[in-house]
This record gives sequence, structure tokens and C-alpha cells, in this order.
Amino acid sequence: MQMSRWPLMATLAALAVGVGCRQAEPPEFTPGPDVVELTEGLDPEEDKDDLKTLQDLQNQIATVLAERVGTPEKIKMLGDPHVSEERLARGAELYAQYCVQCHGVNGDGNGPLAVYLNPRPRNYTAGVFKFVATENGSKARRADIVKTLYRGVTGTSMPSFDVFTDSDREAVADYVLALTYRGLLQTQLAQIAYDEEELPDSAGIDQIVDEVLEPWRAAQHEVVMPLSPMPVMTAETIAHGQELFLQYSCNKCHGNDGRGGSVGSVDVGKDVWGYNAAAADLTSGMFRGGGRPIDLYRRVLVGINGAPMPSRRADLANDPDAIWHIVHFIKDTGEKRRRETVEATLTALNRMVPAEIAAEVALDAEAEADEAADAKKDADAQKADADAAASEPKADDADKTPAESDDQTPAAENDGAASDDAPAADEPADNEAEPEDAAAAAA
Ligand code: HEC
Ligand code: HEC
Repeated sequence: MQMSRWPLMATLAALAVGVGCRQAEPPEFTPGPDVVELTEGLDPEEDKDDLKTLQDLQNQIATVLAERVGTPEKIKMLGDPHVSEERLARGAELYAQYCVQCHGVNGDGNGPLAVYLNPRPRNYTAGVFKFVATENGSKARRADIVKTLYRGVTGTSMPSFDVFTDSDREAVADYVLALTYRGLLQTQLAQIAYDEEELPDSAGIDQIVDEVLEPWRAAQHEVVMPLSPMPVMTAETIAHGQELFLQYSCNKCHGNDGRGGSVGSVDVGKDVWGYNAAAADLTSGMFRGGGRPIDLYRRVLVGINGAPMPSRRADLANDPDAIWHIVHFIKDTGEKRRRETVEATLTALNRMVPAEIAAEVALDAEAEADEAADAKKDADAQKADADAAASEPKADDADKTPAESDDQTPAAENDGAASDDAPAADEPADNEAEPEDAAAAAA
């Protein structure tokens, strides 16, 4: 026993050292698919010259990216030398600790855990973010990413990082943006290499960087504001919302009852990252992009970037309250299902518990009564034995068998225990109202 433990310890120690070494190796960016593709399918013999040119270009792309964006641990914000080094270093540290398993070193959504996850972690390098406050087709602002980090993506594996400090959330959001811009520049360079078989000079690359970043700068001014303040939610607005839900064919993807992809019956196609999309289950009460009315308003008005959830701005812009009514319907649907679940549970409890508990308590009482009877019998028998022993000398009394004397079982008197202790089914939980949202939305 003692002996055989040593080889195991040695193996573990060796493993620990091995793992330690591997971890100590700094993470490195690897070429994206569009760069790899440049030389794919080329024959080392037949396409020798092409291969050499393109491999050269691949190396040049790597060099440009390293110059402009740096390495995973020492990343630079493309086109913005003002973002502080310390902040990006902090972002790198947090990303390596909390994000890389899912989102990958390149930010391409291919971390080691990614294959096990559905939906897949976001591939930032495509430059598309779903849960933004900006217009359809607009880019994300840092504030949108910070908000996603705060909230998490409810109903997916993307956790909430609400325990981070504000400045940590901002640092890691900057890191995400740095990876995003890097990915976009890489794609542009690969396209140019493919089309022109040479890369532009430094000034030319400056211009490409500007083109890549322009829509991200513009996004700062493309926030979707509500077209009207949110009306008070009433049975009428909810009912009207439901009509509109059908009128605008939301049910085509989400189903008449809003349960959408949860029932798996609707094929809504793929998202821009190439994975099967699923229409949200609007009855689940869990909203990936946030459950505040203003969040839902934005989803309904401008759709969801990258997902087959269309913008309705063209239809709804002239009827701003209509959007709120749809939002009311969605809020109510989610609440209704939750309420129904709570009610069903309570009803079930109400119906089951008293009856079952009563039966159980009665059984217990019976058993207790039996036990008491047995105990009394034992005691009586013992007493009889003792009496018999005491009267032993009187041999003539010996034929009297006192043990058999009092066979009458004492009645089970303690039935009362079965009475009234069934736990009361508690008052229904009522945390339905979210009044603070109305104010936020109207603001
Ligand atoms: C356990 C896996 C996991 C971890 C860890 C994780 N994410 Fe995610 N992340 C996801 C998934 C899955 C999605 C996609 C959700 C979706 O498509 O609805 C996502 C989406 C995102 C998005 C995109 C949201 C949008 O609007 O499209 C951002 C930004 C993001 N994550 C940042 C981070 C950062 C930063 C960290 C670390 C601090 C992190 N994530 C850690 C799984 C993870
Ligand atoms: C072509 C199919 C399609 C149609 C039509 C459609 N949706 Fe969607 N919807 C989706 C998909 C897919 C998602 C999930 C996006 C994601 O997170 O990947 C979605 C998500 C949503 C969400 C976001 C929920 C969240 O998790 O934050 C809301 C709200 C929503 N849809 C409401 C509507 C309303 C209202 C309409 C009609 C005006 C509508 N949808 C029409 C496909 C559709």
C-alpha cells in the first residue's frame, strides 16, 4: 500500500510539471481561416511558385498584425494608441483567466470548451454582436459589450460577470474589441492578398484600418431610442400586442404561443456564424438580450444582428405604441408561464400534501400504538415473571401462568396526532411587477 503510492505521486508530480510548463508558454495568435485558405489545395510541386507567393503573403499578414495589434498578452488597440497599456494588460489577464476557454485565444469562439456548447461562444472576429442597443446592421459599442458582461446571456453558457469591478469589465470589453478589430483587419488583408497577390504599403494599410474602424466609431451615434414613451401595460395593450404578434408573422418563427424554438418545430435557418439558429422561446421569461422592456423594444424594432430575427422598423416606425404593445404581450407571456408554473405547483402541493401527510401521520400513529401495546405487553410479562419469581416458594401456585393474563391490547388512543400539522401551502410568490423598467424605458 505504502510502497505503491510513490510511483503514483511521482507521476502526478511529473504531470504537474508538464502542465506547468505548457501553461507557462505564452498564448499565440494563429492564422484565421481566410488566411489559411490562401494556400489550401495548392500542390507543392505543380503550384510551387503560387505557393511560395501566397506563403510569403501569409507571413506578411502575420507581420502586419503583430506590428499593429501585438500579441495576446501585449495587445494593442488597432487605430487607437490612446487606450492605456495597463488597461489592455488587465483586459488580457482577465480574458486569459475567464474567457479564453470558450472564446479562444484569437477570439474566434473556438476555445477548448466551445464544441460542447450550444449556442456556440461568440466568434468576435466576424465583427457582429447580437445584443446591442444600436441599429440593425450597426456595430457594437463598448458600452453594449460591458452591458453583456454585466448581465451575461441568460439561458446560455455565457456567464454574468457582475462580480467584476466596472473598470475590469471595461478593460476586458476593450480586449474583446481589440480581438474583434484584429480579426476584421486580418480578413481584409487576406481578401487583398487573394485578389491582388500583394499587400499595400504602410499608408495603404492605415487606410484599410480606417475603413475597418469607421462603422465602429459611427455606432456610438446609432443607438436606438424608443419612438414613444412606454404606455401603461393593461389587459388591452397585451391583447393588442398579441394581435400584432400574429399580424406581423412573429408566430411564423416563434409559434402562435411564442414558444418558438423550444418545441423544435420551426427551422429558421443558420446565423451568420454558420450555426443553426433557434427562435427564442418568448414564454420562458429568459431573454438573452435582457428582459427590460427597453431591451425587448430594441429586439422587436430592429431585430438581432447575425440571427434570422428581422427588423420591423419599416412596418412599425409609424405606429410606435404598437412596439410597446408587442413588448407587453411578450412580457405577459413570459410572466404567464411562470405564474402558471407557480400556480400548478401550488395546486399540486395543496392537493397532495395534506392527504398524503395525513395518511402518513395516521400510519405513524398506528405503528406507535402497536409499539406501545407491545411495550406494555413486555412490561406486563416481566412484571408477571417477577411476581412469579417472588412467589416461587409457593410451589402449589406454579400452575398459574401469569404471562398470559392480560392479553387485551390497549386501544390505539393517540390518533389525535394525525390531525392538523399538514404544512400550509404558502402564499403565492408575487414578484411580477418590475416598475423600475417603465421609467428606464421612458427615459
Ligand atoms: C462558458 C463559456 C463562456 C465563457 C467562460 C464566456 N463566454 Fe462569452 N459567450 C458565450 C456564449 C455561448 C455566447 C453566445 C451567446 C449567444 O449567442 O446568444 C457568448 C457571447 C459573448 C459575447 C457576445 C454578445 C453579443 O452581443 O453577441 C461577448 C461580448 C462575450 N461573450 C464576452 C465574454 C467575455 C469578455 C468573457 C470573459 C470575461 C466571456 N464572454 C466568457 C460563452 C462564454
Ligand atoms: C424569421 C424568423 C423570425 C421572425 C419572423 C421573428 N423572429 Fe424573433 N427571433 C428569431 C430568432 C432566431 C431569435 C433568436 C436570436 C438569438 O438569440 O439567436 C429571435 C429572438 C427574438 C427575441 C429576443 C429574445 C431574447 O432572448 O432576448 C424577441 C423579443 C423576439 N424574437 C420577438 C419577435 C417578434 C415580436 C417578432 C415579430 C415582430 C419576431 N420576433 C419575429 C426569429 C424570428
